[in-house]
Amino acid sequence: HLLIIDFGSQVTQLIARRVRESGVYCEIHPYNKVDSAFLDEYKPKAIILSGGPSSVYWKDAPLPDPKVFDLGVPIFGICYGQQAMVHMLGGKIEGGTSREFGRAFIEKVSDDPLFEDMFVGGDKEEVWMSHGDHVAEMAPGFGVVARSPGAPFAVISDPERGFYGTQFHPEVVHTVHGRQLLRNFTHNVAGFKGDWTMAAYRAEAIEKIRAQVGDKRVICGLSGGVDSSVAAVLIHEAIGDQLTCVYVDHGLMRLGESEQVVNLFRDHYNIPLVDVDASELFLGKLEGVSDPEKKRKIIGGLFIDVFDAEATKIGGADFLAQGTLYPDVIESVSAIGGPSVTIKSHHNVGGLPERMNMKLVEPLRELFKDEVRALGRELGLPEPFIGRHPFPGPGLAIRIPGEITREKADTLRKADAIYIEEIKKAGLYDEIWQAFSVLLPVNTVGVMGDLRTYEAVLALRAVTSTDGMTADYYPYPHDFLGRVATRIINEVKGVNRVVYDITSKPPGTIEWE
Ligand code: XMP
Repeated sequence: HLLIIDFGSQVTQLIARRVRESGVYCEIHPYNKVDSAFLDEYKPKAIILSGGPSSVYWKDAPLPDPKVFDLGVPIFGICYGQQAMVHMLGGKIEGGTSREFGRAFIEKVSDDPLFEDMFVGGDKEEVWMSHGDHVAEMAPGFGVVARSPGAPFAVISDPERGFYGTQFHPEVVHTVHGRQLLRNFTHNVAGFKGDWTMAAYRAEAIEKIRAQVGDKRVICGLSGGVDSSVAAVLIHEAIGDQLTCVYVDHGLMRLGESEQVVNLFRDHYNIPLVDVDASELFLGKLEGVSDPEKKRKIIGGLFIDVFDAEATKIGGADFLAQGTLYPDVIESVSAIGGPSVTIKSHHNVGGLPERMNMKLVEPLRELFKDEVRALGRELGLPEPFIGRHPFPGPGLAIRIPGEITREKADTLRKADAIYIEEIKKAGLYDEIWQAFSVLLPVNTVGVMGDLRTYEAVLALRAVTSTDGMTADYYPYPHDFLGRVATRIINEVKGVNRVVYDITSKPPGTIEWE
């Protein structure tokens, strides 16, 4: 494998994406975890040093274990990674008098295996710079192979050792041929064949799960979402009926969702599944509660109670399986970044492993969402399951501002089903990251069949996004919105007005609570 050592750049994930897109499997590990023992165990075939916000001259600057340079494997340093490499190998880094951000053009100084299919039809390449410090004096063995007016050491090369560095970021799309550059490194310099596929990942993941779990028991909470579904099917393939799934229906799922999950897992995959209808319990405890954070805490707490009770009933388990994805991991380990405030308490099964004394199995930890979907396809999960929009753990609770009642949940379920049906009919479902309805605690006056009505407002939401961190509202055609509104008002009792939410994130969040 290829090893990416992370120094805290905002775009380290993109390096991994680009590398895997070229058919080479890689993993990202934080610099402080990559010590001598780790390297002995991991045996990387090549290494990429990521960018980062630090300066090599800071006290306690993050630096790679010096052993990486003695492994005899090719190394590619990006921005801060380049500086760290040059600094440790005997060169000099300087603070820039001016920081350089954005578009720049580099020109080739000499040919290099790194430049295959680049600088075609001209001697310039458009790249994306983002740095404060830069190389001032080269380390022995290196030569300059490309430069720009602002970056005399834009690309450096030590072909003997296979060490390369760029001042710019090849992993971002603004570096027009960045993907090609990284591919040239992995294929031409490091000798990867580019034959890694999802099928290979599946086989490897299954081996890893078997090695980790042995003959112990695993329990997995299903939410109906893609991540936990894929994790469960993969783990079942690895260890069969040592896995038990638990599905908790809190009464705040979408229309028909519980049946779909139960059918798929129990009947289609034959995976042992405990399904618990805990709707009375959840809705009871939520009665009269309208504070969003209180709702979230109540649901998170009850979820753990119910899961714990069910786990005990089936005799417990040594491992808890979770569909944790790579972006979740990165967010929680971005040790170098500053502290971030809690906007919302996300509900997951955090707290359970300690309470039940379980270890975690997280077979999707290295994957991005679209890779999880590809793995799901590889495992034969039905397409509608794979392409599903994300659905939050607290479910409809955070789409009913104010007090929650079973009646309101039913109304919302009906309206939302119509909305989603119309989106699918219009062929827009896959273009949208997430679409849903929100039932507002506001009644307005209307007129239907010559009679006055005084009923609730329903808000429609749809956003595009790549990771849920930022989002844009979806620009529906007006006739589409009109059609949905008419159907909902005609078919759903209790709603007499429909509005469309045109707030982006930021400043809004995707969910209303
Ligand atoms: P926000 O509303 O914070 O949502 O912009 C970003 C993404 O996260 C989902 N979300 C959750 N997912 N448990 C989850 O599993 C939660 O408590 C939760 N809250 C929000 C939201 O649907 C969107 O995709």
